[in-house]
Amino acid sequence: MEHTRPVLVVDFGAQYAQLIARRVREAHVYSEIVPRSMPVSEMLARRPHAIIFSGGPASVHVDGAPSIDPAVYEAGVPILGICYGAQLIASQLGGEVRKTGTGEYGRTELEVLSPSVLFAEQPLEQIVWMSHGDSITDAPAGFAVTAKTPGTPVAGLEDRDRSIYGVQFHPEVMHTERGMELLKAFLYDVAGCAPTWTHVSIIEQAVQEVREQVGDARVICGLSGGVDSAVAAALVHKAIGDQLTCVFVDTGLLRLHEADQVEETFRRQFSIDLVHVKAADRFVGALDDVIDPERKRKIIGEMFIRVFEEAARDLGDAKYLVQGTLYPDIVESGGGENANIKSHHNVGGLPDDMEFELVEPLRNLFKDEVRAVGEELGLPEEIVWRQPFPGPGLAVRIVGTVTPERIRILQQADAVVMEEIKRAGLYREIWQSFAVLPAVRTVGVMGDDRTYAYPIILRAVTSDDAMTADWARLPYDVLERIASRVINEVPGVNRVAYDITSKPPGTIEWE
Ligand code: XMP
Repeated sequence: MEHTRPVLVVDFGAQYAQLIARRVREAHVYSEIVPRSMPVSEMLARRPHAIIFSGGPASVHVDGAPSIDPAVYEAGVPILGICYGAQLIASQLGGEVRKTGTGEYGRTELEVLSPSVLFAEQPLEQIVWMSHGDSITDAPAGFAVTAKTPGTPVAGLEDRDRSIYGVQFHPEVMHTERGMELLKAFLYDVAGCAPTWTHVSIIEQAVQEVREQVGDARVICGLSGGVDSAVAAALVHKAIGDQLTCVFVDTGLLRLHEADQVEETFRRQFSIDLVHVKAADRFVGALDDVIDPERKRKIIGEMFIRVFEEAARDLGDAKYLVQGTLYPDIVESGGGENANIKSHHNVGGLPDDMEFELVEPLRNLFKDEVRAVGEELGLPEEIVWRQPFPGPGLAVRIVGTVTPERIRILQQADAVVMEEIKRAGLYREIWQSFAVLPAVRTVGVMGDDRTYAYPIILRAVTSDDAMTADWARLPYDVLERIASRVINEVPGVNRVAYDITSKPPGTIEWE
């Protein structure tokens, strides 16, 4: 298929390499990130439509600065260098790169100097985003200077004959007003790419690959209710229908009605063969009197494996296991070489000796593509846009002992939180919002009676990646509605508090 010929993004150490690849895909052109250590011959063997050099933190002048075999310039493949990538082109082809003392960081005014296909139909003055210490002071022979800024005499350069282009600024960041136009001009008008990478084509390709991989063998998939495993299951089902069996383990530690929702979606809506293992008693029993958070995690992880293995054994002839591994997981574990990825992303930490071969239909996709594919496949919004949920479930949101009664309280309170956050239109913009049940009780008064009951802690955070998080500035009226509904509707609760701790120093979960 046409879109299997990629645009390669060579990673020179930028935090932006992933962003470049995503922007290229947003222009409906398939792209992949490759490490700069990949030999140029190997890059060319992929028959790339074009190669983009990312930015990077180094200076071309330091010893061991990231570089690339100059053979790449002779291959006839269009090249676009961004920031460090542009400086590398300039320095390797005989131009000059210097520390001029006028580095630029942030919003910068760009002046377009000469007609360039990259800037075609764009205003001659525009705002771009810069982040560089060194500057290109002289373009190599044969290159035209296409743009400058107050601090950078060569902010754009190109050799049209050899199809080599460079820009000092970052077209991939949103603050560069015309960045997406520039990338599209490079992809469509310079490299001749067609916008064939669409959600429909992603699905077609994944379906074809899954069919080729598994033939007529039986396949199983562990469903967690989260978006990745759900989309992976729906895709594999589209590919092989009845050969797929999904296993959903109800640990009893799920959100209210979550098990019903998974069952409704997969068994009834998609007619997927679903094994629903009702194991709440086993999980909750195993947690009896357990207080330590790490012990809770360990007990739940092990129990999950045991239950899943039993279910898999009952389906004795399954040879393949579906996993919802995503592209960033693969890139982060070694730039496209998947050797060391598998152990990280096993469903619930399944052991290696299960002897399944893995099917990973999302391994080339970013999260936003996964959600779009999920929508295209007809998965309900509640699954496609679900907030992250920890593997050990509500057990790590119940501080102290986990009992059926305390699970009931938390599930009911959590359902109110979710309903009100959704009603306020905040569900998608908030990273996670949920209720926590602490191990204390407090005094209150309801009617004429004194109460002695649990408080509920409300936790809502904004975040990009869960590594850091800030508490969400929820409107007072939303806080008030949640508090009054939880206290009125959930027996056993007489108080609601809001957690205003960021991460760090806190974590998102309470345990
Ligand atoms: P913390 O609490 O460490 O959480 O700030 C970061 C993100 O990870 C989720 N989380 C877990 N996910 N197993 C999981 O699969 C776990 O044991 C676990 N603990 C935390 C948490 O919900 C947040 O998104």
